[in-house]
Amino acid sequence: MTGPVPSFVHEGVPTRIVFGLGSRHGLADELDRLGLSQVLLIASGSSRDAANELAGILDHRLTWRVDGVRQHVPAELAAEVTQDATRVGADGVVTLGGGSAVGLGKAVAVSGLPLVALPTTYSGSEMTAFWGVTTAGHKEVRRNSQVLPKTVLYDPELTFGLPPLVTAASGMNALAHCLEALWAAGASPISAPWALDGARALCEAVPAAVAEPWDPKVRSRALVGACQAGLALATAGTGLHHKLCHVLGGRYDMPHAETHAALLPHVVGFNEPVLGALAARMAIAVGSGRASTGVHDLAVRMGLTMELSELGMPESGIAEVAAEVAASPPANPRPLDEAALRSLLRSAWEGDSPG
Ligand SMILES: NC(=O)c1ccc[n+]([C@@H]2O[C@H](COP(=O)([O-])OP(=O)(O)OC[C@H]3O[C@@H](n4cnc5c(N)ncnc54)[C@H](O)[C@@H]3O)[C@@H](O)[C@H]2O)c1
Repeated sequence: MTGPVPSFVHEGVPTRIVFGLGSRHGLADELDRLGLSQVLLIASGSSRDAANELAGILDHRLTWRVDGVRQHVPAELAAEVTQDATRVGADGVVTLGGGSAVGLGKAVAVSGLPLVALPTTYSGSEMTAFWGVTTAGHKEVRRNSQVLPKTVLYDPELTFGLPPLVTAASGMNALAHCLEALWAAGASPISAPWALDGARALCEAVPAAVAEPWDPKVRSRALVGACQAGLALATAGTGLHHKLCHVLGGRYDMPHAETHAALLPHVVGFNEPVLGALAARMAIAVGSGRASTGVHDLAVRMGLTMELSELGMPESGIAEVAAEVAASPPANPRPLDEAALRSLLRSAWEGDSPG
């Protein structure tokens, strides 16, 4: 036997997962199971048709509907929707949409309402007990196990309409969860198989879904990968990559998934030299000789923007973000300092190849 003797703490995600084509039609039964009869429906504007269909499925169980979802969950929006929920006497929250809808749902659920999620992107937020709220350009991450959805209905049909570039970026966001879950502080032999299997599923199925958005097998495999990515993230936690993305998103209102895609090859490339055998396992999962190059090439192949400068980050942000992250650095396999962070951010800002 080689390698260290394992020692870890694993906290499982107690959410009921219902996965399958058409699973949204079981929503009313799932709410009955939870004893919920007066729910608030939060749906992204882009999911209006699906939201209308869900309203029909919910029937008398629907008490209020919110369409005004915004990225990075502005604090005033969270407060407004929480007041609406109280005013109409809602006993639960249902979200239909990506991480922004789930984030708003969690911000309301923390007031004590059970949450049920129907994800339409690969963000994985529905598997975690944390969410971000933005106040005056600062995105604060909050954590409370009460916001974990009681039930998640993964229906791949809800992702058929996800546009190619959103599919690509969201898939890269999920891939970031998988790869960072391999080196994050809470990584364990329980979370690593989800992370590696999820990475493999995403690297195969997401480019296929970009090419064939209506293929049920491809969309199903990509969504399974996203679920595994969310579970890996929830149990292993986050590190340097997610910290940088949160700071960038909050400071410059950058698009979340696209920022993940542009930054990921550089963070993987930064850590790769110290990961030893894990770097090789990552490369195999990504399907490339080197994970950082494989991740970069995958994103480029799917047509994603690889320059943070094109995604709204000003050049002054290189020094600002490096200083902010260096002031409270996350645990990271390779030691971090401000100069190393500036160099990493400069490469991502210019869209260089990683490493
Ligand atoms: N807490 C967590 O664990 C976690 C994890 C990942 C992301 N997040 C948060 O989630 C947010 C980003 O989530 P996201 O990347 O899913 O973005 P999003 O929810 O903003 O969705 C991205 C875009 O896709 C559109 N869209 C969503 N589903 C669609 C569909 N089926 N068809 C057509 N268009 C559709 C949306 O309207 C939006 O324009 C950020 O605020 C991020 O911080 C949280």
